Amino acid sequence: MSNPLAPGSLTGKNVLVTGSSRGIGADTVLYFAEAGANVVINFRNKEARAVKLADAIRAQGGTAITVGADLTDPASVASMFDTIRQEYGSLDVLVLNASGGMESGMEADYAMQLNRDAQVNVLEAALPLLAPGSRVVFVTSHQAHFIRTTETMPEYEPVALSKRAGEDALRDRMPALTEKGIEFVVVSGDMIEGTITATLLERANPGAISARKDSAGKLYNVGEFAAEVAAAAVDPIPEENTRYVGDTSDFTR
Ligand SMILES: NC(=O)c1ccc[n+]([C@@H]2O[C@H](COP(=O)([O-])OP(=O)(O)OC[C@H]3O[C@@H](n4cnc5c(N)ncnc54)[C@H](OP(=O)(O)O)[C@@H]3O)[C@@H](O)[C@H]2O)c1
Repeated sequence: MSNPLAPGSLTGKNVLVTGSSRGIGADTVLYFAEAGANVVINFRNKEARAVKLADAIRAQGGTAITVGADLTDPASVASMFDTIRQEYGSLDVLVLNASGGMESGMEADYAMQLNRDAQVNVLEAALPLLAPGSRVVFVTSHQAHFIRTTETMPEYEPVALSKRAGEDALRDRMPALTEKGIEFVVVSGDMIEGTITATLLERANPGAISARKDSAGKLYNVGEFAAEVAAAAVDPIPEENTRYVGDTSDFTR
């Protein structure tokens, strides 16, 4: 997938993508860096991958720092923003990409902790660094965005409910963001081919992902979806602050 952002178009801008050590976040942060932005690669566990990505960006002449933070730990989040303040001074784009809840061995309400409470806490902690004209992008799935009206696979339901709760909690803050001149957009995508989530769901429900692909006509891959997330940071704000990626006709609005 080619970068939707023009080379040099984000020179001098500072961008944080949460959960950017791998998957969609990693491709997204790379697009920003290629467009000239100074990027923050946030990881929880996968430090080696984050460092490798930062090295690759620097080798291309870009600017990147890696910051480890478990977003469910407020002290860890505060420390991440301290580092960003010291290194870059401010943020122009915050992409709330990190997500989870299907990991084994976590507390029963872990999905809510990460996908709702941590998202709100990250936004609150980022506010002092976000100047007028900056933008917050929240990444979600159609299966989560439409969970109130369209059933999903049982294994994904707790994640879907928690991500929708997170989206709602962030939307509740839109008036306060608007007052500060900060823009907000949600990017909602269908299942993404080649991701760990899609692989886990396919394992639990053999044939589910190919059935979804047949119904939707196409599923985006990681690079293609990441390009939509990156574009959402610069394109005009869509209707209802929501950018839909891929077919939504099987979902009840
Ligand atoms: N996968 C799909 O089919 C799909 C479809 C539509 C939308 N989306 C959305 O796209 C976004 C990215 O999805 P993905 O599939 O690329 O995710 P992923 O491969 O599961 O990657 C999750 C990222 O989040 C980080 N992370 C997880 N828990 C964290 C925590 N407590 N604190 C800090 N970072 C944490 C991980 O860091 P470590 O690697 O360091 O653990 C990793 O970088 C999510 O918001 C997801 O809902 C995904």
